[in-house]
Amino acid sequence: MTFERNILCIGAGYVGGPTMAMIAYKCPQYRVMVVDVNPERIAQWNSDQLPIYEPGLEQIVRSARGKNLFFSTEIEQGIREAEIIFVSVNTPTKTYGAGAGMAADLQYWEKTATQIRKHARTHKIIVEKSTLPVKTAQAMQRILSAGNEGVKFDVLSNPEFLAEGTAIKDLEDPDRVLIGSEETPGGQRAREMLTAVYANWVPRERIVASNIWSSELSKLVANAFLAQRISSINSISALCEKADADVEEVARAVGMDSRVGNKFLNASVGFGGSCFKKDILNLVYICRFYQLHEVADYWEGVVKINEYQKERFILNMLSTMFNTLAGKRVCILGFAFKANTGDTRESPAILVAQRLIEEKAELVISDPQALRNARSDLKGVDENIAYVEDPYEAAEGCNAIAVLTEWDQYAQLDYARIFKSMRKPAFIFDGRNILDHSKLFDMGFNVFPIGKPAYTHFDADNL
Ligand SMILES: NC(=O)c1ccc[n+]([C@@H]2O[C@H](COP(=O)([O-])OP(=O)(O)OC[C@H]3O[C@@H](n4cnc5c(N)ncnc54)[C@H](O)[C@@H]3O)[C@@H](O)[C@H]2O)c1
Repeated sequence: MTFERNILCIGAGYVGGPTMAMIAYKCPQYRVMVVDVNPERIAQWNSDQLPIYEPGLEQIVRSARGKNLFFSTEIEQGIREAEIIFVSVNTPTKTYGAGAGMAADLQYWEKTATQIRKHARTHKIIVEKSTLPVKTAQAMQRILSAGNEGVKFDVLSNPEFLAEGTAIKDLEDPDRVLIGSEETPGGQRAREMLTAVYANWVPRERIVASNIWSSELSKLVANAFLAQRISSINSISALCEKADADVEEVARAVGMDSRVGNKFLNASVGFGGSCFKKDILNLVYICRFYQLHEVADYWEGVVKINEYQKERFILNMLSTMFNTLAGKRVCILGFAFKANTGDTRESPAILVAQRLIEEKAELVISDPQALRNARSDLKGVDENIAYVEDPYEAAEGCNAIAVLTEWDQYAQLDYARIFKSMRKPAFIFDGRNILDHSKLFDMGFNVFPIGKPAYTHFDADNL
C-alpha cells in the first residue's frame, strides 16, 4: 500500500507513543513510524504489555499497529524515509555543569538534531514536540544547516499539551493545537502541511498559529500557570488548617467567580509529574539569564510552595503519630503522581516514602498501575517496603494509611473492613481529599485531610 505521507517520531515515550498512535488512528492514509534508542521500550510498544498505561491507549494502538503505525529502533532509516519528523525526546532538568538543577538538559535533543542532519537526504519538516527553552528552534535550525548544504529543513514548534491520565481524550479532542513557525515561505508551507495533518480530526479554529518563539514559550507558561494554581490553593490549605476553615469551601466560593474558574483548585499533598517542576525551573532559568530576577523569584515560589506542601504532609504524619514512626506500619495508597497513569516521575509519594523509611517506618505500597515504577524509584532503600496491589491486604496490620493518589477506587473501598484489620489507634492521612472524612471518623479513624480541621478521637491538647 502507498501512503500519502511518511511521518516519523523520534522518542517513544509518554508523548511520542500516544501522540503518534492518535495520528495513525485518525489518518490511515499516513504511515507513522515511532523510533527510540531504547530497544526494550520499542519491544514493549510492539507487545501486548505497552510501556505506559493510559486509558484508551491500548485500543488505538491495537487498531493501527502493523497497518500504518510502526515502532522500531531503525532511526536512520526512519529519518531517510520521512517527510515530517516529530522530535519528542526527553528534556529533563540538567544535573551537571552550568544551570544544574534548573536549565533543561538538551543533550538528547541535540543528538537527535545531529542525527537528522547526518542521515537526511531530502527536505524535512522538523516538529519540536518536546518542551524546550525559548529559541531552541533557532539552535535546531543552526545545527541542521551546519555542513548539510544540499538539504533544506523547516523547523516548527508544536508543543504537546496532553495531560497524563487523560492523554487519549486530550489528543482526540484538544483545547488547542499550537503551531509556531517562521514567517518565511518555507515556514508557512511547513505550517500548512502540519495543520493539514491535525485537520483530519481537529476543527480548524482550534489549530492556532503563532510565531515560533511564542509557541515555545507558551508551553512553559501553560505549565507554570497550571502548577501555580495548585500551589496557590495548597498555600491556602496551610492557612485553612490553622484558621479552622475548609479549603474545599474556600475553593468553591473562589472558583465560582467566572474570572477565576473552578478547575485545578483541589488542595493536595503537592503536584508531581515529569513536567511541572522541570518546566518552571526552566522558565526561572531563562528569566535569570535575561536578568529578570523578580520574575524568576515569582515563579520559583510555585516550586517552593510545592516542596513546602510535601514537607508539611510528612511532618504532620510524624507529629500526629506521637513523633515516632519507628516500627510503625504505614500503608501508602497510590504511588503514581496522579490517577489513571502508572507514571511516578516526581510523584510526591517518592519523597513521602523515603522520609517515612528514614523515620524507620515499615511501608506497604499499593497502586493499581504504578508498582513496577515504585519498585525502581525506591531501589536501594526498600528493605522495609512491601508492594501489595490489593488495598485491603496492604492496609492489614497497619497503623496508618496515607492516600497519595486520587484513584477513584480508593474512595470506594470498604473502610469499615479496613479499620477492623488495622492496628489501633488507626490514622488516615488523605493527601488528596477524596475520602468521606466524617464517616471515617465515625468508624473510629483519626482523620487528617488537607486544608481542613482534623477529625481525631484524642484531646486537642494531646495533638
Ligand atoms: N509526559 C508528559 O505528560 C508531557 C506532556 C507534554 C510535553 N512533554 C514533553 O515531551 C518530551 C518527552 O516527554 P516524555 O514524557 O514522552 O519523555 P519519555 O522519557 O517518556 O520519552 C522520551 C523518549 O525519548 C527517547 N530518546 C532519547 N534520546 C533519543 C534519541 N537520541 N533518539 C531516539 N530516542 C531517544 C528515550 O529513550 C525515551 O523513550 C519532554 O520534553 C516533555 O517535557 C511531556
